Amino acid sequence: MKSRQSWADLYAFEIVRTSDTPLFRQLYLQFRSAILSRRLRPGTKLPSTRELATQLGVSRSAAVAAYEQLLAEGYTSGQHGSGTYISPDLPEPIVGNPQRRMKPAAAITPSAVQMQPFSDFVDVTVQSDERPFNLGRTLIDDRTLELWRKLSARTFRSLAPNHFGYSDPRGSIELRKAICDYLQAARAVNCDPDQIVVTAGTQQAIDIVIRILPNRNREVWVEDPGYPLTRQALLAAGATVHPIPVDAQGIDVGSGIKSAPNACAVFVTPSHQFPTGVVLSMARRLELLAWARKKNAWIVEDDYASEFRYGGRPLASLQGLDEGERVLYVGTLNKALFPGLRIGYAVIPHALLRSFVAARYLMDRQPSTLSQAVVAAFMEEGHFAAHIRRMRLLYRDQRDELVAALESQLGTDLMVNAPDQGMHLVAFTRRGLSDVAIERAGRQHGVVVRPMSRLYLAASPRSALVLGFSGHSRQTIVPAVERLARTVEMQSRPSARGRQRIATPKC
Ligand SMILES: Cc1ncc(COP(=O)(O)O)c(C=O)c1O
Repeated sequence: MKSRQSWADLYAFEIVRTSDTPLFRQLYLQFRSAILSRRLRPGTKLPSTRELATQLGVSRSAAVAAYEQLLAEGYTSGQHGSGTYISPDLPEPIVGNPQRRMKPAAAITPSAVQMQPFSDFVDVTVQSDERPFNLGRTLIDDRTLELWRKLSARTFRSLAPNHFGYSDPRGSIELRKAICDYLQAARAVNCDPDQIVVTAGTQQAIDIVIRILPNRNREVWVEDPGYPLTRQALLAAGATVHPIPVDAQGIDVGSGIKSAPNACAVFVTPSHQFPTGVVLSMARRLELLAWARKKNAWIVEDDYASEFRYGGRPLASLQGLDEGERVLYVGTLNKALFPGLRIGYAVIPHALLRSFVAARYLMDRQPSTLSQAVVAAFMEEGHFAAHIRRMRLLYRDQRDELVAALESQLGTDLMVNAPDQGMHLVAFTRRGLSDVAIERAGRQHGVVVRPMSRLYLAASPRSALVLGFSGHSRQTIVPAVERLARTVEMQSRPSARGRQRIATPKC
């Protein structure tokens, strides 16, 4: 007879969110260890992926991926509709040392990189979650939708031989000119269309940069806290990553110089540091440029979300200040328009241009001619500027709605910073509340928040919730803050904590 596994077994599971090992792999490794050590006995029925995800506070896709791997390797067997069971016929000799196998895989260090399979660096099964306040989401209004349909139809009607063949790996000249005009006017970027390379977005641009960095060493600085996908891409490429603390003026250049004076590159988000939202001060900009010039190092400026500025005086791009051609400027239309677009761009110093273009060519030849034609028309005909103007107003209203709701419902628990720019805000927790516990419980209440403490590498972590407001309409914001408030209230009432752990998701 099949025995039912108790939840108590799963409480022994240790999910380490700061680990670079993806959650699905941590789950897989711990199940495997429990199966091999016979803590989970052959024939035991495992919880459904939904139950497991809720219980351990992980995404459903992580649970599904872990189960799929266990199944593929024969540790479990499953019949559609009847659940997943530990295989009844595992041979004895595979039982190993349970102590050794209990721990999730060690955090990835650069020296271990060559040993790690690529799949360990990031859990690609995690899809974008639509629920408030997930990050990275955008809204498209009816006007843009209509224009997009019209311009796409027009592009398809006027298909010409140049749409069908191979073309310039940097992207079409029409799109590069449109991007160049925009960057000169809006961000004071120093560029000409020949230096612009159309990419699939920031992620591809960063990947190309890593490949073409000079071989003198593979040491780089990243912001701490910082954008995890930059760090993961760097680690996956075998770079030695030095986390450099961020303070109220942005990345602490002095600290970078102390820890890795000869690094070959630094990856920064100067106009709106991710996730803190701090603007890199002018003094630090100059210090960074001076260091890069002196050391022949490269500065990679990720200027994501700079289109959405709601007040205050904008600081022009760091690239625009650079007289020594040390800055690679990286921008994206996946945030200014929509993430599914997968079009971004990089402005590359002349010394690196040929290498950058060659690497881009070897990676995927060129961007799609059809998408480029639609985007170029959208920009050339003034729709992009108008879209940004409308979205700026919309996102500002959503930001204000979120700030007001947080202050009125969670004023004693959270300290909210209303950002002048961007698509997310940071709310610091008060009274010792844990951002990680809130994130975990929030998912059960249909609210997705990012715990800022998890985005730190070496610097002392601050507990705060990172909340996206760009992709969530005003009508959804207040009810979602109410659910967040209930979640936070349960966290601050110790007696309620146990109950909340087993609560059924409401949304
Ligand atoms: C810091 C940062 N840079 C860039 C991006 C955009 O990346 P991509 O253009 O690859 O979608 C994001 C998206 O969330 C981001 O947070």
